[in-house]
Amino acid sequence: MAIAVTDRSIELEERIRTRTATVAVLGLGYVGLPLAVAFARAGLTVRAIDVDAERVQALLEGTSYIQDVPSAVLQEIVRTSPSSLLSDTEKGNDGRAIGRLEPTTDYGTLAGADAVVISVPTPMTRMKQPNIDYICAAAAGIVPHLRSGMLVVLQSTTYPGTTEKDVLPILERSGLRAGVDFHLAFVPERINPGDRRYTVENIPTVAGGLSRRCGALAAMLFGTIGAPITVVSSPAAAELTKCYENTFRFVNIALANELAKLCERMGLDVWEVIDAAKTKPFGFLAHYPSAGVGGHCILVDPYYLACAAREYDLSLGFIQLAADINEDMPYHVAGLVSRALGRQGIALRGAKVLVLGVAFKKDIDDARNSPADRLIEALLEDGADVQYHDPYVSEFPVHSDFSRRRPFHLTSTPLTDELLETVDCAVIVQAHSGVDYRRIVQQAKTVVDACGAVPSEETTPGLLRLGVGARTG
Ligand SMILES: NC(=O)c1ccc[n+]([C@@H]2O[C@H](COP(=O)([O-])OP(=O)(O)OC[C@H]3O[C@@H](n4cnc5c(N)ncnc54)[C@H](O)[C@@H]3O)[C@@H](O)[C@H]2O)c1
Repeated sequence: MAIAVTDRSIELEERIRTRTATVAVLGLGYVGLPLAVAFARAGLTVRAIDVDAERVQALLEGTSYIQDVPSAVLQEIVRTSPSSLLSDTEKGNDGRAIGRLEPTTDYGTLAGADAVVISVPTPMTRMKQPNIDYICAAAAGIVPHLRSGMLVVLQSTTYPGTTEKDVLPILERSGLRAGVDFHLAFVPERINPGDRRYTVENIPTVAGGLSRRCGALAAMLFGTIGAPITVVSSPAAAELTKCYENTFRFVNIALANELAKLCERMGLDVWEVIDAAKTKPFGFLAHYPSAGVGGHCILVDPYYLACAAREYDLSLGFIQLAADINEDMPYHVAGLVSRALGRQGIALRGAKVLVLGVAFKKDIDDARNSPADRLIEALLEDGADVQYHDPYVSEFPVHSDFSRRRPFHLTSTPLTDELLETVDCAVIVQAHSGVDYRRIVQQAKTVVDACGAVPSEETTPGLLRLGVGARTG
């Protein structure tokens, strides 16, 4: 006779509560690795599974490849020989009971897991359609090891409906029924790479289960990490919550970008205007213009949502408009480079252009889908001789969901006085801390500041700022 799922779920609940549960995390990237580490630090045993053997080997050696996960933390929890341990939990350096993180490429280790979290990539196709192939492959990998009472959580950011319409049918190939024999939920990740204040351990999140029990178990599992969890009514509600959050950023960035273009024409300074607007203590949240939106989330999720809406005969015009504005920004900044050079009598064709900062965000090493990619491509297409400097990114591009018209591969150039004196234009795309932008303005012939890096008092004739127009009359 099959053991009733309620008994199984009570057992799972007890194992989570007593930290004797084993959780597997599939995909050990920017999201999955911090999560796996957080579970281990919460006292759970973690099977950390990735298809990338090099990544797994690095973890086995206690070497982190993710900026937000120090190697020292890994070394504390990566213990590969269970027989060397007295128990599954030990005390960490800070005296807390910690679990064990076991990096592996072997899906077979799922057999002993109580819960599985899928944290694999969700890129776009060349035509900017959702590509959930990685999710489907991970789900198919779970099937042979799925057992009664297991909790499966999808965490990869995706369009509403993925958990129920795409993942569920794959998992049910096992012969087990979701919500009856095993538990299924969606819990989005809100990690903010490079942010030391808000981490996976204190960012509140939401959980949506196929049943109330599924949602409650997922909340309990993620609750071990320490941050508050809000349970919503379904996986789709949780999926849409994540898409909505990032779409909110996407459309507000587009508004700031449009305002920047207006300020250029009106002879105003968008940075001054935004700083003034944000003195309002309610009802306003500052967003800033830039060379465009990048990364794995804010750039991608609105397209996923817009695509999913089409199934319901709805075209999300707001997202499309924001996409049009944001996608134009690298070309707009390329235009500013051309204008800055032209004012000094230099043609863009053949000009030496230095791009500063290719990571998609300040002070991080993630350069996926960076707007610098499209900007460099546009500059190369117009015949510029492009170099870049980024202390965090040694080679560029790394990965891009964009189609490529003009393939290029560059390595970061050291930021020397000689370099600055020989370039015709330095274009600041991402202002990492620790770079002296005044020095750049003083040394380069022309500078385009596309991110508000240069102090507003700086008024060298060769300087052009995104969102800042010349006052006339
Ligand atoms: N990076 C962020 O800031 C961020 C924030 C919130 C949510 N997300 C979302 O989280 C998900 C993961 O993003 P990421 O940035 O961690 O991606 P990533 O590319 O850094 O890492 C994904 C990892 O998954 C591995 N992988 C691929 N297929 C696999 C499989 N079948 N089984 C096991 N491992 C597999 C890859 O080798 C890689 O190591 C995406 O859906 C993303 O949109 C990302």
